[in-house]
Amino acid sequence: MIPVAEPDLSGNELKYVTECVVTEWVSSLGKYVRMFEEQMAASCRRKYAVSTSNGTTALHLALVVLGIGPGDEVIVPTLTFVATANAVSYTGATPVFVDSEPDYWQMDPTKLEALITPRTKAIIPVDLYGHPVDMDAILAVARRHGLYVIEDTAEAHGALYKGHPCGSLGDISCFSFYGNKVITTGEGGMLLTDNEAWCERARFLRDHAMSKTERYFHPEIGYNYRLTNIQAALGVAQLERIETFVAIKRRNGEHYTQGLAGIPGIVPAPEAPWAHNVYWMYSILVEQDYALSRDKLMAALKERGVDSRPFFRAIHTMPCHPRDLHLPVAEHLSATGINLPSSVKLTEEQIDYICRQIRELAG
Ligand SMILES: Cc1ncc(COP(=O)(O)O)c(C=O)c1O
Repeated sequence: MIPVAEPDLSGNELKYVTECVVTEWVSSLGKYVRMFEEQMAASCRRKYAVSTSNGTTALHLALVVLGIGPGDEVIVPTLTFVATANAVSYTGATPVFVDSEPDYWQMDPTKLEALITPRTKAIIPVDLYGHPVDMDAILAVARRHGLYVIEDTAEAHGALYKGHPCGSLGDISCFSFYGNKVITTGEGGMLLTDNEAWCERARFLRDHAMSKTERYFHPEIGYNYRLTNIQAALGVAQLERIETFVAIKRRNGEHYTQGLAGIPGIVPAPEAPWAHNVYWMYSILVEQDYALSRDKLMAALKERGVDSRPFFRAIHTMPCHPRDLHLPVAEHLSATGINLPSSVKLTEEQIDYICRQIRELAG
C-alpha cells in the first residue's frame, strides 16, 4: 500500500535523539529545544519562537496570549482540521465559520466582513493542504476592524505567499509537527511572532505560569504545553533537510498535476500565481463528470494499493460545532476532495502509477 503520509527520519534524527538519551536530557530542558526554536524562527523570518507540545496547544496559547476568552468571537474557516476551531472553544470564545473560495480552496476573504460583530477579536486563516491563503486580503480586513490574525500554518511549512514564508505574516503563526507534517517531531508545535511581550507571556503560560523570580510561585493558572528535548532533537534534524523536503514536495506536486491533466471530472491541486504551494497533501476534486463517486474512487484505489484520505468535514456540519448554516463552497470541497499519497519518499514511478489508476478508472 502506498501510504498517504510517511515521515523521512533518515538524516541526523537518530544521532541527535541518541545524544539526548545518552546525556539523559530527555525532558523539556536541554539544548535542542532552544536550537529548534531559534532555527524555526530564522526559517520563517520571525524574531521569536515558543515550542509547544503540539499544534493545537500552540493555537490555544496564541489565543490566550492575545487575551481572547469568553464572550469573544474568532473567525475560522469551516474547511480545516477541527483543531483550529477547538482551540477557540478551549478559551471560552466562539468560533465563527467562514466559507471557502473555489479557486484555491482556502478561506474566502470576501466573506469575512459580513461576519464581523463587536465581539469579533481575531481571524485564524489556515493554509489548507499546503497552499497559502490570500493573506493580504485577510490582513486588510483585520487592520480595518482592529482584529488580530493568527496564521494556522500547521500544513504549510515551506510554502510561500508572494515570496514571503507562510508563518511570517500574521500577528502570531502556529505550526504543527505531527508525524504527517512537512517536518515532524512525532508530536509537537510552535508559536512564532515578532512581538517580544507575547513571546514572553507564551513562555510563562507554557510552563504552568511559574514566576521567573520565585520558583513554585504561580500568579495565575498556566499550562504544561512544553516540547521535550527528544522531540526538539528530531525537529533540528528535520529542519536540516527542510529545503530538500520542500523541493521534493513541489516537484512531486507538479508531477501529479501533469499526470492528472485532462481526466474528465478530476480537478488537480491548484496553485495561485502568487503562491508556492508546498503540496503538504497533494489533493484533487472528484467532480460529478468523473466515472466514479469520490468514495468509490478511494475504494478502487485502495484495491490497487493506493491509500488516500477524504477532505476534512466542514466543521459547521459536525456535532462538535453544530451551526445552522449552508456554506456551499466548503461543503462541496469537503464532499469531493481527496488527499493522495504525498510523502517525500514517494517516487515518480509511484506517482505515475497512481495517476494511471485514476485515468483507467475513468473508463
Ligand atoms: C490546520 C491544522 N491546524 C491545527 C492542527 C493541529 O496540530 P496537532 O495535531 O499538532 O495538534 C493540524 C494538524 O494536525 C492542522 O492540520
